[in-house]
Amino acid sequence: MTDVGRPLWHGRLGDQPAAELLAFTESLTIDRRLAADDLTGSRAHVRGLGTAGILTAEEVTAILDALDRVDQELRDAQFVFVATDEDIHTAIERRVTELAGPTGAKLHTGRSRNDQVVTALRLFVLREGRDVARRTTDLAQILVDRAAAAGDAYLPGYTHLQRAQPVLVAHHLLAHFWALARDVERWHDTLRRTDVSPLGAGALAGSSLPLDPDAVAADLGFAARFENSLDAVADRDFVAESLFVCALTMVHLSRLGEELVLWTGAEFGFARLADEYATGSSMLPQKKNPDVAELARGKTGRAIGNLTGLLATLKGLPLAYNRDLQEDKAPLFDSLDTCSLALRALTGLVATLDLDEDAMRRAADEPDAAATDLAEYLVVQGVPFRDAHATVGALVRRSHAEGIPLADLVRSDARLADAAALLEPGQAVQRRSTPGGAGPDPVRRQLDAARRCLEEQQAWLQP
Ligand code: ARG
Repeated sequence: MTDVGRPLWHGRLGDQPAAELLAFTESLTIDRRLAADDLTGSRAHVRGLGTAGILTAEEVTAILDALDRVDQELRDAQFVFVATDEDIHTAIERRVTELAGPTGAKLHTGRSRNDQVVTALRLFVLREGRDVARRTTDLAQILVDRAAAAGDAYLPGYTHLQRAQPVLVAHHLLAHFWALARDVERWHDTLRRTDVSPLGAGALAGSSLPLDPDAVAADLGFAARFENSLDAVADRDFVAESLFVCALTMVHLSRLGEELVLWTGAEFGFARLADEYATGSSMLPQKKNPDVAELARGKTGRAIGNLTGLLATLKGLPLAYNRDLQEDKAPLFDSLDTCSLALRALTGLVATLDLDEDAMRRAADEPDAAATDLAEYLVVQGVPFRDAHATVGALVRRSHAEGIPLADLVRSDARLADAAALLEPGQAVQRRSTPGGAGPDPVRRQLDAARRCLEEQQAWLQP
């Protein structure tokens, strides 16, 4: 006889659970995504039970066959869920027991859903986190390509969103590259800590059966097994860290998105969106809107919320497993999905963006942009920087107040007469020559460093 429609704990709690309880506590609608990883974990567990002599070879084969059948039913969308399948793990075990009878009922020997669930979740994060990291390198690659193609084009660099000093377009694009490179590094670090098998921790305390968590960890391809069974089932650091990497990546995409919104507006006019990465207006026929960039900015709020939400869920929990932990999956799936989609959309948007290098140059060539170079010219003549700053500041002030071109004032100033050439278009950016600076020489070296960094990260992410 099978127990279709009865909960796994029907021996202890005889009555059917209330419909309201099922509706409130089920997680199947969300954790169905863990089906493949649950099957992977279950197969390894069954093989482990065979090695330990707890199951016979025939029993192992029978359960593995049933798991294969369940796998096929899920793939073909033929799997029939029942009302008491509170999560994907319960549903799979219930179906294995239907298919393999009393032998199937041995699947859960020495295992708890507490170690089972978190085993599947770690396998999921190891794969999906890598995928988001790979998509991060895809955008990073486009930024490097576009930086290389931008050559010696330059634009104003900003502080306080006020024009400050000209920088190469390549330098600006690479600034976004380095932020993403750090995100990929964060995945590397996060996934290293995720790569620990919790299987064999049982409900909280391990087992009296001769299980071998090391062997099962190796079978599943984990780098290590848990050291402490309580920690193994209670730890969701790897989820919190993944949510943080997603949130910070989204913050980086949001800042890039905000610049793209500015650049594509008429007030800046530095770039035009490709038609396939722009949206129109339902009413205003002339509009071409940067919705992708705006949503990269907008969806970042949710990614931050997912992180803070999980931290709030975790903060009051005693050891070990508490049902609250079930709330880890919805934010995790949402953040990984959102981050992945945002990366793909922005990769396409940046790849097809039409940069208006003339507009950028015009904006950068205003003479005020060379004010620092004038002050530094005086410094080389031995003038203390604070005095040089005041001298040039006064000239700029007079230029604005009296409407006299700064170049004329510079030429007629005995201290600065020879410095007028510094105000020529393109001079200011040429002179940003220190390591890591915004001029052509350091940017060439930076581009090499970025390429090396990206190659290393791509090699790590090889399938
Ligand atoms: N769906 C639950 C989760 O995701 C399964 C674990 C339930 N464990 C338990 N002891 N009730 O966390």
